[in-house]
Amino acid sequence: MHEIKESFDVKLAEDEKYYVPDEKYRRTSWIGDYQRRYDEFLADPDAFWNDIAEELDWVRHWDRVLEWNYPYAKWFVNARLNITSNCLDRHVASDRRNKAALIWRGEDGTERVYTYQKLLTEVIHFANGLKKVGVSKGDRVCIYMPMVPEQAIAMLACARIGAVHSVVFAGFGETALNMRITDAQAKIVITADISIRRGKAIPLITIVKEAILNAPSVEHLVILRRRREPPVEMRPDFELDFYELMRNGGADCPPEAMDAEDPLFMLYTSGSTGTPKGVVHTCGGYMVGTYYTSKYVFDLKENDIYWCTADPGWITGHSYIVYGPLIVGATVFISEMTLDYPDPGIWWRLIEEQRINIFYTAPTAIRTFMKLGEAWPEKYDLSSLRIIGSVGEPLNPEAFEWYYHVIGKDRCPIVDTWWQTETGMQMITTMVGEPMRPGFVGKGIPGVVADVVDKDGASVPLGSGGFLVIRTPWPAMFRTIYNNDERYRQYWETIPGVYTAGDLAVKGTDGYIMVIGRSDDIIIISGHNIGTAEVESALVSHQAVAEAAAIGKPDPLKGNSIKAFVILRVGNAPSEKLKKDLMYHVRMTIGPIAVPQEIAFVEKLPKTRSGKIMRRVLKAQEMGVDPGDISTLEE
Ligand code: WTA
Repeated sequence: MHEIKESFDVKLAEDEKYYVPDEKYRRTSWIGDYQRRYDEFLADPDAFWNDIAEELDWVRHWDRVLEWNYPYAKWFVNARLNITSNCLDRHVASDRRNKAALIWRGEDGTERVYTYQKLLTEVIHFANGLKKVGVSKGDRVCIYMPMVPEQAIAMLACARIGAVHSVVFAGFGETALNMRITDAQAKIVITADISIRRGKAIPLITIVKEAILNAPSVEHLVILRRRREPPVEMRPDFELDFYELMRNGGADCPPEAMDAEDPLFMLYTSGSTGTPKGVVHTCGGYMVGTYYTSKYVFDLKENDIYWCTADPGWITGHSYIVYGPLIVGATVFISEMTLDYPDPGIWWRLIEEQRINIFYTAPTAIRTFMKLGEAWPEKYDLSSLRIIGSVGEPLNPEAFEWYYHVIGKDRCPIVDTWWQTETGMQMITTMVGEPMRPGFVGKGIPGVVADVVDKDGASVPLGSGGFLVIRTPWPAMFRTIYNNDERYRQYWETIPGVYTAGDLAVKGTDGYIMVIGRSDDIIIISGHNIGTAEVESALVSHQAVAEAAAIGKPDPLKGNSIKAFVILRVGNAPSEKLKKDLMYHVRMTIGPIAVPQEIAFVEKLPKTRSGKIMRRVLKAQEMGVDPGDISTLEE
């Protein structure tokens, strides 16, 4: 993955402050006593996962729970299943048939409710439609859509027939989209004419059309036409209307019996070098892992309404909007609303109106609300909330306190969940009922052996820092990087024998883990991962730029912001105008999230003797701290 940077010492102010949730949470939580469950898992990991898998529907039972051939795992060996049977058919065949599966709220106030039956019907029709245009098991389908229910329908329809979906976040620009379509060799791209943000229509379709110009694998575009007047024109034969495809689909689509190890989807995530990585997840293990965590980490109960504010374009949306909660049979609320439009009270108003019980969001949103003030949430009745969650980046203690007091009213447990695109499921948190410690995510959940180690893989003593690793395989782990197995192995070989997450962490004296941030060249901005390499390559693709280096700088709201250092090609003079041009260029190439907030024109960049840019040195200069070991610096 990346070279391991030196270990480091942390001086923790060990004020051991805990919030102990009401005893009732321990009693009502399905997980019950954390330590007992953890010990059960340790005593017999296979039996632990076996029992969870037994709760689901399979077409063929597994011969063995796990075949571990480091660093390759096979989970539920030789089992057959279809994840949509568990997301949909299983509930339709039960008392949940008429229960709301999805409740969607559009920006214009439109509300749509899908019962489990209705969702299944639409998924089946759309799946058949895909079959009719030539999509079959194993084909890759790119989904580039706004937050509408059709996005989830498209994902589930792919899963129904065994096509591998690759969802690309609709905030990405045309170059980023093109790269993802061509790497996956996607046969179909499913998109929408527009996405709606802050009352404005953003033409997605123009981005897609640019992106597929050099993507010969694409045979059809399927377009959800949201704009009524005038509707976008369709190029005959090549472009297909979403609902027409669905109407022509037909009502019978038995779920494809997938091998547990067949791919379910791929999802691109930023790499520390070069192109984004197509993280591949498989059917069986991912189903079991997302089911288990949705059920126990969120402690989802039959009558809960659950809201996760993520976009399905990211792994959080895959695992905790679409797959996990539907497998559990929950009611999932999806909103297209930006957090401050039409006003900064909108999310709290939605919680009041929908009587949301479980709410899952990101620290960047929490910090934004802190800045906007308590008056907004205080206008609304948040008493329906039972459990509140966080994901994507460190939840700093100040944000924890605010979330706990202002939103959770000193009553709701916070589940701050650490995990990754690669892990597929939540891995570290403080399970409901356990004492919570601000700033610390908690411990590995039962089933997960998380640790903080030095660069040789030895556990660091309690109270010190090192690299965050996972010691044993887990069901929802990714199986490879698409077409690049070498990059998969690097995760397991960086520190031999363990999965290296790429995060720096501290193990408190109580064994609780605090995640500090990335140890590699990935910058997390508002919970979104951007590789320095992506930003740099976007910059150098501009004709004025010879070389570029990007670093993350701490930002009170977004976690980090990007600063870029740029060497211009001869004949180009630094100017404010050029800075603006470069920012615009990055926006068009990767998307708005990757735009540097600052650009500095420089004559030289600090490099190692072997020519690698030492971003660490740039960052230290920027922060006014000691750059540490610079013995490898060029001069
Ligand atoms: C960071 C998102 C601290 C971490 C599910 C990780 C976190 C990266 C937390 C993965 C958390 C995620 N506390 N940091 N609770 N959750 N991270 O792949 O650096 O988009 O490696 O997956 O986000 O980001 P990804």
